[in-house]
Amino acid sequence: MKAIELIEELKNGAFELSGRTCDTVKAGNPEKEIGKVAVAMFATVDIIKKVKEWGADMLIVHEPTYYDHFEEMLVNPVTEAKKKLIEESGIVLFRYHDFMHHRPIDQIPEGEVHYLGLKGKLENTPYSASYMYHLYEPITALDLAKLMEKELGIKHVKIAGERNKKSTNIALCFGTPGGVYDLLRDENVEIVLTGEICEWMLGEYARDAALLGYNKSLIVMGHIGSERDGMRLLAEKLSKKHTSFETKYFECGEVYTYTEE
Ligand SMILES: [Fe+2]
Ligand SMILES: [Fe+2]
Repeated sequence: MKAIELIEELKNGAFELSGRTCDTVKAGNPEKEIGKVAVAMFATVDIIKKVKEWGADMLIVHEPTYYDHFEEMLVNPVTEAKKKLIEESGIVLFRYHDFMHHRPIDQIPEGEVHYLGLKGKLENTPYSASYMYHLYEPITALDLAKLMEKELGIKHVKIAGERNKKSTNIALCFGTPGGVYDLLRDENVEIVLTGEICEWMLGEYARDAALLGYNKSLIVMGHIGSERDGMRLLAEKLSKKHTSFETKYFECGEVYTYTEE
C-alpha cells in the first residue's frame, strides 16, 4: 500500500469540509510504499528520532509540527532545524486532524472515552467542537480527575469549581476549543472536560459558580492529555485492519514537566 492510499482511506467517512484543511502531507513522498506506520499526537523532535530508529515509512500526527495551524513555516532556527531533521528522515509526515474530528463519531472523544473506561452515552451538543457524555453511573469531579490520571496517564489533572458533588452530565470539549463558556453556562452540564483554557475567565467562572452553590466544574487535562487517546485508538484500529504494514503508537508525552520526577 502507498502512503497516499492510506491517506485517502483515512479521509473516508468524514463530513465534507468547508474551506481549507490542515490535513496535508507535510514532508516526504506520498507515493512511497509503506511497511511501517507510526502514529503520534505531535511530531516532536524526540518522536521523529524514535520513529526513524524504528524504521517508519510514514508518521501520522494530529497536531501541527511547526507551531502554526496551517504550518506556514514561521522562520526561526528551531523550525529550520526540525524541517531538516524530518526531510533527512525520508518519512512521509501526514497531519490527520480535520478528517478525524469532522465525522459522525469524532475519533478524538471516541478514543478518550474508550480508554477512560466510563460507561455512558455520547451525544452531539449545539456548541462548537463538543459532545455530551451522559454517564450511566454518577461520579464526582474529584474521582473523575483521579480516574483520568490513572487510566489516561495524565500527570496532573486540574479541577476548577465543584469537586465533591456527583454528576452524570459531562461535556467533552477537548484540545483548545471555543465552546467551553457556553457549556459551563448550560444548566444541563455539570462537568466540562477540556484541554487548555483561559484561567481568568473560564477557571474563575467555574470557581464562583461552585461557591454560589451550582454543581459546576471544569476539568483541565492539558492539550495532549485531552486528545492523544484518539490517536492511540487510531493506531489500534489500523493494526487490526491492515496486515500489509505494521502500525505502532508513539507517546510524545505531555508538554510540561513538573518538579517531582
Ligand atoms: Fe488539538
Ligand atoms: Fe483535535
